Amino acid sequence: MKNNEHWELSPAKKQNFFKTPIVVVIAALALFFFLASCTSNEQTGDEQADPDESQKDLAEINQFEAGDFESPDICRGCHPEIYDQWSKSKHQYAWVDEFYQPDYLKASKETDGLTDVFCGECHAPVAVRTQQLPPPDGSLFDDTSKRGISCDYCHTVKEIVEPLNVMTISAPGDIKRGPRGDGEASYHEVEYSEMHTDSVFCGSCHNVKHPVSRAVIIDTYDDWKQGPYAQEGVRCQDCHMTPGPGFEKNPGKSSPMGLERDHVATHYFHGGSTFFQKRKGNEKQEELAMQMLQAAAELEAEAALSENGVELAVRVKNVGAGHKIPTGVTYIRKMWLEVTVVDDSGGTVYSSGHLVEGNHVDPDTEFYRKTFRDAEGNLTQKSWIAEEIAYDRRIPAKGYDQQVFEILPEGLSGEYQATVRLMYRSMSQEAANEMGIEGLEVPGIEMARTELSIK
Ligand code: HEC
Ligand code: HEC
Ligand code: HEC
Ligand code: HEC
Ligand code: HEC
Repeated sequence: MKNNEHWELSPAKKQNFFKTPIVVVIAALALFFFLASCTSNEQTGDEQADPDESQKDLAEINQFEAGDFESPDICRGCHPEIYDQWSKSKHQYAWVDEFYQPDYLKASKETDGLTDVFCGECHAPVAVRTQQLPPPDGSLFDDTSKRGISCDYCHTVKEIVEPLNVMTISAPGDIKRGPRGDGEASYHEVEYSEMHTDSVFCGSCHNVKHPVSRAVIIDTYDDWKQGPYAQEGVRCQDCHMTPGPGFEKNPGKSSPMGLERDHVATHYFHGGSTFFQKRKGNEKQEELAMQMLQAAAELEAEAALSENGVELAVRVKNVGAGHKIPTGVTYIRKMWLEVTVVDDSGGTVYSSGHLVEGNHVDPDTEFYRKTFRDAEGNLTQKSWIAEEIAYDRRIPAKGYDQQVFEILPEGLSGEYQATVRLMYRSMSQEAANEMGIEGLEVPGIEMARTELSIK
């Protein structure tokens, strides 16, 4: 295997794009024009927006007071099940997240705080919109702000200006917007909101571009939109707000005082974070994430004789995810094939994608992920200095990727057993080390496996 795309993370190579004052000014201007230029956007809100309004600086529109967004503890009283599900979801942890904080604080330090609000808009939207961020350390946060992406942020979004970089307009207050509008709640009004039933709602955050370089940091929504599931009308909610992988319904009531419904949207928002949830001790969430990872892919392997001896062709098929696998912050995650071939006495005759020293995956492995280059052309895992995509190899929804391994260059002499595993790490060991997460040994999670005898 001939891939050299593993990280070179020597601190000497660190390039500090934001630090020069001129660059800071350009960055601020670019951010301004970027926001100001978003006029040709798709209107998905339940009201037609005044085009002039979209031109206004969203930061100015979204200025509220501490307490304007209600605490999730209030919602808990009447929506106990939804609360329980959400309270252990990645949305609840979005700010305190042990993987987010070190990355965020590093960005803040290296850019003299220029990234604070940008990161916070997604990871602590209530804090930003009630002016509790900055300062970056969260010392001004009230209890609601600390709870990441909470009920009242999502259910008081009035408009999506564009499904990118949290370009939304909030209207906290009595009206809670959701998928129905026909319920009776004594505490609040309900309003039907089409965008809450659409992937565009998720896309407002699950689509991230660097505000200056425009490098695509996260493309889950755009990728879904261009893929087969959008065509078939299968939304993010159909896979991530249902009881497990697949489209199973969850009949019942969203509140004990509410009406009986044939499907109540679940709020686990389960993705691939089985390792994170295990560390939190959230067994149900750990299990759900595991099911998601295992539902995503299938493997097919075939051995054939060629002039290079016996070759093993492996296909990785994305059979269960509505977007590429992996998706999201793949620059700190890793997915790869682990191949082992043993002869009839059990001795290993070929291996690829195994661990080397320091719990790293053999750097010669072909990884499924995305990596960035900074302005000086160096590889980097720091999203805030990403200038362009350096490498992007992932498996499209309902598509596949094929790799060929030269397992027995001398040809056959007896019987062999090949084992192929598709592996996933929610954080590469390099990223964990670079973030300085003390003593973190990241495990590889098996997403799929296939075995083959060759004779
Ligand atoms: C006093 C009880 C009560 C409290 C407190 C409460 N709700 Fe509700 N809520 C209800 C009831 C009842 C319904 C109607 C459910 C049904 O019939 O399907 C409802 C419905 C909703 C809906 C669905 C709207 C729609 O029509 O699609 C949303 C969203 C919602 N609540 C959000 C919240 C949020 C956010 C909070 C906390 C800030 C909250 N609720 C607090 C009782 C309450
Ligand atoms: C990340 C955004 C987000 C967060 C956080 C969130 N919700 Fe929701 N919620 C949604 C979306 C989107 C839907 C509609 C899903 C669909 O159409 O399938 C929904 C649906 C609902 C419904 C209607 C369920 C039904 O099917 O009748 C209620 C009630 C509700 N949410 C309450 C809450 C409460 C209470 C919390 C906090 C404990 C919360 N939500 C947190 C996005 C969110
Ligand atoms: C306000 C921004 C925001 C909105 C709106 C939002 N998300 Fe998220 N979502 C995030 C962030 C930030 C994280 C990561 C939090 C962390 O791990 O630190 C996340 C995490 C997730 C994960 C967990 C992935 C994992 O690693 O396990 C899933 C799944 C997910 N979101 C699905 C959705 C869906 C579906 C919707 C729409 C109904 C949605 N999100 C709406 C910001 C958002
Ligand atoms: C057909 C079902 C399906 C649809 C539709 C779908 N997803 Fe997923 N999603 C999955 C599966 C399965 C996984 C687990 C595999 C993985 O982590 O890549 C996943 C993983 C994720 C993750 C975690 C990625 C990681 O490993 O960190 C996020 C975030 C996410 N999805 C968001 C979304 C958003 C946002 C949408 C809509 C734009 C969406 N998904 C649409 C099935 C789906
Ligand atoms: C427009 C929304 C948005 C912005 C802005 C944003 N993020 Fe995120 N972030 C997300 C989403 C969505 C996820 C979850 C994707 C996934 O699960 O793969 C995420 C996940 C992460 C994670 C992984 C957390 C985990 O537990 O695996 C880190 C680290 C992170 N973000 C750092 C940052 C930093 C640092 C910034 C600012 C430079 C930032 N993010 C800005 C949306 C955003």
